[in-house]
Amino acid sequence: MAEPQQPSTARMIDHWLGGEHHFPVDVAAARAFEQAYGPCAAIFRDLRAFLGRAVRAMVAAGVDGFLVFGAGVPTRGNVHEVATEATVLYTDVDPVTIRLGQRILADSDRVGYGYGDATDVGTVDRAQLHRFVPGWGRRPVGVVFLGLAAFLDDATLAGTLDELYQSVAPGSLLAIDFDAEELAAYPQALAMMGPQFRMRAPASFPPLLGRWVPTADGIVPVSRWRPVGAPAEVPAAFHGGLVVKPAG
Ligand SMILES: C[S@@+](CC[C@H](N)C(=O)[O-])C[C@H]1O[C@@H](n2cnc3c(N)ncnc32)[C@H](O)[C@@H]1O
Repeated sequence: MAEPQQPSTARMIDHWLGGEHHFPVDVAAARAFEQAYGPCAAIFRDLRAFLGRAVRAMVAAGVDGFLVFGAGVPTRGNVHEVATEATVLYTDVDPVTIRLGQRILADSDRVGYGYGDATDVGTVDRAQLHRFVPGWGRRPVGVVFLGLAAFLDDATLAGTLDELYQSVAPGSLLAIDFDAEELAAYPQALAMMGPQFRMRAPASFPPLLGRWVPTADGIVPVSRWRPVGAPAEVPAAFHGGLVVKPAG
């Protein structure tokens, strides 16, 4: 793969997770961000651990097909590595990330990677969707929507989540996270996130979910979402949870 000239948040996360799918440009960007904010590895490992617990909870609820938006690099405890019996369709909008994901998953016949704009489920290739998330719209599935809400304004996010609600069958589950206001005290780091980046106060999360119903765990700092043992001692940068389209 030709070496990218621009860093990507997905590959920066891979660097923080100790993965192998990043380049010097990503490491440089990750280091610059850490100069402005502080160490990030523990925060992103905690976020990935939350993904793992959420995916396990969906599997326990009977989910065996997943659609993942803004998937980034499909390694280091990503969905198919946790849901080892499930079929999984990873999607992203970044062509470099999609090519990287397709290369990593080239040998798998239960996991695919393709284009998908999270704000329009209609952009996901229908053939791939029905192959890897069988019964889409007719039987419960799992949807993963992590690392995306912060880049969508309230109206787009609420509309997107409502469209997803309408698209999936009752009993489907969605894992979601929001960026809280951790970066407010770090203006240089905040500026690095770009003009689209939105921090939100926790009280503003529930109305954005529309008809999706959070499980009893609520939307909480991800380290506190069904922790196994003592929650990780990390800043509450990300809040998240599982929401359901109630059956019946
Ligand atoms: C912060 S990264 C998170 C990656 C991954 N979810 C993780 O936790 O490692 C955000 C990803 O979302 C992708 N992305 C940005 N806007 C998107 C959109 N509208 N639809 C789908 N993916 C998007 C980016 O290309 C990037 O790979």
